[in-house]
Amino acid sequence: MIYDIAKPLFFRLPPETAHGLVHRSLEMYQQTPLRSVVRDRYRVESERLQTTVFGQQFPNPVGVAAGFDKNAEIAPALGSLGFGFVEVGGVTASPQTGNPRPRMFRLPEDRGLINRMGLNNDGAAVIGERLDRLDTDFPVGVNIAKSEDVDPEDAPGDYRETYEQVASGGDFFVVNISCPNSQGFAELQNRDSMAAIIETLQTAGAAPLLVKLSPDLPEPAVDDALSIVEEFDLDGVVATNTTTDRPASLRSPARVEGGGLSGEPIKARSTEMVRYVAQRVDVPVVGVGGISSAEDAYQKIRAGARVVQLYTGLVYEGPSLARKINRGLLELLDRDGFESVEAAVGADL
Ligand SMILES: Cc1cc2nc3c(=O)[nH]c(=O)nc-3n(C[C@H](O)[C@H](O)[C@H](O)COP(=O)(O)O)c2cc1C
Repeated sequence: MIYDIAKPLFFRLPPETAHGLVHRSLEMYQQTPLRSVVRDRYRVESERLQTTVFGQQFPNPVGVAAGFDKNAEIAPALGSLGFGFVEVGGVTASPQTGNPRPRMFRLPEDRGLINRMGLNNDGAAVIGERLDRLDTDFPVGVNIAKSEDVDPEDAPGDYRETYEQVASGGDFFVVNISCPNSQGFAELQNRDSMAAIIETLQTAGAAPLLVKLSPDLPEPAVDDALSIVEEFDLDGVVATNTTTDRPASLRSPARVEGGGLSGEPIKARSTEMVRYVAQRVDVPVVGVGGISSAEDAYQKIRAGARVVQLYTGLVYEGPSLARKINRGLLELLDRDGFESVEAAVGADL
């Protein structure tokens, strides 16, 4: 309700300014007693939504995707809004300012966003300390990315340096080799580069370890990536990141901007990727891309996602989205006669 009133005002601000405002408000709010009041109203408590994936217990399957809480500052606030987990980051070894602004664009007619943030973040040391101070009753994952100034051949050591600084505070770790907005990422998704990065991280002790894939990977490259997932016995696959593709259906003027497209326009494609991965490898899939309703989340779950995440949906639907999705999921489970979310995973495969 409140967001219905606030949204037109937010949408008059540049997207990054609006995000900054929301971020600062959540940071202040999470230090007040209001947080537990809101939590009691927004967290949908149901055993049917609980799930255990890669050794972590999720109170519900709806999480916040990487990029929303880049610096690990607002996970408690996001948890109080009813999210079942948060993936912080992308984190790089040293602080980065990212690309020049503007670098985030709304596509309201398409319910999408384009961003070319370029992995702006406070750096692994600062974020690692924040993670160590966090006390949450839900899993917090860390998205680890390659530093802008590091060449692809030096990527393994760079990922390890970052991992070591965030290791003690994360519940799971996502190797981001699919960022379309920073130098040198395109080469990281080939077989040898990916294997070298993963081997280095595993040797350093990174677990549970997941890999995040681009929806733009051609099928043979996906198959290569999945063979690495199996070879290294990875704990999961996150599908998908944003796309550099521009579907012909886009109507918003901002479609011409460079960067990664997210939201409704990538929904079907990322669901297909979830399905493709779930059909081929026996590891948990985290489904992400265009989720803004219970039906969207449910489709990804039925296509094989064990848990789901979202970012762009929050911009268009506002802070009650996790509650709406969790309540809706319970109704959909009832409708289709599933005992639990876990029972619905892969129902369409
Ligand atoms: C502004 C913005 C920043 C993002 N930053 C990251 C990031 O740092 N690392 C990453 O792996 N994904 C990042 N993403 C991608 C999201 O985590 C997610 O994979 C993608 O947006 C698709 O989900 P959505 O349609 O629900 O937004 C970012 C997305 C947006 C919109």
